[in-house]
Amino acid sequence: MQAMQVRPLTPKFGAEILGVDLSQPISDELFGEIEKVFNDSGVVLFRGQNITEDQHIDFSHRFGPLEIHVRKDALMRHRPEIFVVSNVSENGKPIGSVDAGQFWHTDLSYKKVPSRGSLLLAREVPMRDGKVLGDTMFCSTIAAFEALPADLKQKLSGLSAVHHYEKGYNRDRPSGRRKPLTPEQLAALPDVIHPIVRKHPYTGKPCLFVNEGYVTEIVGLPKAESDSLLEQLFQHCLSEEFIYRHNWRVGDLLMWDNCSTQHCAVGDYDAGLRRRMDRTTLTGAAAA
Ligand code: OGA
Ligand code: MN
Repeated sequence: MQAMQVRPLTPKFGAEILGVDLSQPISDELFGEIEKVFNDSGVVLFRGQNITEDQHIDFSHRFGPLEIHVRKDALMRHRPEIFVVSNVSENGKPIGSVDAGQFWHTDLSYKKVPSRGSLLLAREVPMRDGKVLGDTMFCSTIAAFEALPADLKQKLSGLSAVHHYEKGYNRDRPSGRRKPLTPEQLAALPDVIHPIVRKHPYTGKPCLFVNEGYVTEIVGLPKAESDSLLEQLFQHCLSEEFIYRHNWRVGDLLMWDNCSTQHCAVGDYDAGLRRRMDRTTLTGAAAA
């Protein structure tokens, strides 16, 4: 039986779990402890995980069913549960999604039932002068909500926002414009509406559930007011005190909660430096 230790990543959220080798059997008891740390911390880091694609999928599956992303071109052909984030091409074709996630977002917030969380495994990381580039930043939406003034908390509690995948998909990015989404992809992803203050499905804590990447407007407000309130909230989330910045090492498995955190990939590396990450994505759960 493996014995785990837990070390906080920041004073407000995030934890590193030490002493667990995910290539070895994980008892139900140990899994229960891991799941509790995940629900309470929002971001969980396991370093030094030399695991296969199947072990990555199997461990992810312990949390529940997995998503198969609408972007079929970024899925691993023989294992569609794995979404590849990479700037690598093979035979002239990108092996995954190039410069994905380089804006603040939560994965799949644009679905009717948003994703519970994602598990990203670093296979190759870009390096220059001995320094690893391509960090990922995380923001705690619980800490961000908590820090808002009482009157704004009150106002937001009665409001909902529209989320749409196309907003993030079509934005400008270093690799250029993407192929337009097909009518089938668009039909699978209509506008969805979620409360701005979302109760965390497992802990019940209030989370500020709007992200710059996918939220287009606040329901029922005039456009100018909606735009300025959203901008204020997006800016608020960038405050240093809510942020954990992860500097990757090959073999890191980092999992994050898609309700209590947002994330943003830092695109500070040249196209010639290889970066390859494998992601599994958990389906969502009913509200608490
Ligand atoms: C993701 C994502 C960030 C990164 O996989 O969902 O946003 O740093 N990735 O690769
Ligand atoms: Mn993402």
